[in-house]
Amino acid sequence: MLHERRTTLDTCDVRYLEAGSGRPLILLHPFPLSADAWRPQLEGVPDGWRFLAPDLRGFGPAPAQGSPALTLDDHARDVIALMDAWGIERATIAGLSMGGYLAFALFRLAPDRIDALVLADTRPQADSPEGRNGRQAMLDTLHSKGVSAVADAMLPKLLGETTMRERPRVVAQVRAMIEATEPDGIDAGIRALMARPDSTTDLFRLTAPTLVIVGEEDVITPPADAAAMHAAITGARLTYLPRAGHLSNLETPDEFANALSRFLVTL
Ligand code: MLT
Repeated sequence: MLHERRTTLDTCDVRYLEAGSGRPLILLHPFPLSADAWRPQLEGVPDGWRFLAPDLRGFGPAPAQGSPALTLDDHARDVIALMDAWGIERATIAGLSMGGYLAFALFRLAPDRIDALVLADTRPQADSPEGRNGRQAMLDTLHSKGVSAVADAMLPKLLGETTMRERPRVVAQVRAMIEATEPDGIDAGIRALMARPDSTTDLFRLTAPTLVIVGEEDVITPPADAAAMHAAITGARLTYLPRAGHLSNLETPDEFANALSRFLVTL
């Protein structure tokens, strides 16, 4: 059964979704979505696991009250504070895209709190100069045309060609999630993404069991990035998801859940 709950941290008030009981797994969502992006996985939690998915500060339908998170390190400190509030010393951390960037920040700040990692549709590199220009253009779109225009620009990149063609319900769901986000949250999120450091060298220090997942139609963090990340992490596993783009857990939720479950039974 899926529960929607809230908790108050020193920095902000956080909405989170929780399902199952047992070993903790924390799901970190992509930009510019919310904990709701993890509903398919929260609705099918494997036995013996407790899945928790927070809205990162500034995101979600009722964004956390408090000062905006300026960097991914701020978000990582929020995750550590949440773990303390939940009474969780160590957890498996699953991050998709921005959630993966956040997992790297968490690894730098508190490696001892991580049991295992799932890095989905993400990459360790910082933004390239062209990438930063693209973010600046997105900020301009946000301020001149609003959140719906951001959704228009992002949807064909977030979702794979198969989903854009054949899964109108997923397209509508993702659009609704983006449009439910406050412009200030999107603004702060873009700035945090632009400012994130390169995490490439951190990969070589990772010893936690790691699963890399990527949608074969992901154009934001393509399969080649996942393959390079997989090669850099000792003992990591790699799963490609056919007919899925960047939001692979929403586009092919059953296949994503299977890959996740096959990994979790090895822990
Ligand atoms: C995300 O899905 O979190 C974003 O697309 C990440 C990014 O733009 O780098």
